[in-house]
Amino acid sequence: MVADDEFDWESLKAVAEEAMTHAYAPYSHFSVGAAATVEDGRVVSGCNVENAAYGVALCAECGLVSQLHITGGGRLTHFVCVNTDREIIMPCGRCRQLLYENGGPSLLLMTVSGVKRMDEVLPDAFGPDDLT
Ligand code: THU
Repeated sequence: MVADDEFDWESLKAVAEEAMTHAYAPYSHFSVGAAATVEDGRVVSGCNVENAAYGVALCAECGLVSQLHITGGGRLTHFVCVNTDREIIMPCGRCRQLLYENGGPSLLLMTVSGVKRMDEVLPDAFGPDDLT
């Protein structure tokens, strides 16, 4: 776990909670909201969007990453996601990969066990540097 900084995690979690209320999750009934800050101070968010073809469900992080790019790109610096009960949850394996791509190893995540760096949540990650 990394030392806590002055970052306002509660405000970012509130953005994730609001995003969660927009989830489309008629199959799992498990709504998820995700929120992140960008290095320039922007805040981006997303909610999960399920599909009758269960396997093509979009995680909340997918929408968040899309909003990141639509609004100008840049690096994510802080991230949190919550479930229907507004509890913090861990990003799934695939979404850890999405977050690594867009936040890099130093992205800070509020997790079920405190603030952690991306490279703790996805150690020895395959990433952009492997393709150079
Ligand atoms: N889900 C997310 O949105 N993000 C995650 O990181 C974990 C899982 C969604 C996908 C699906 O709609 C529901 O949670 C149940 O798995």
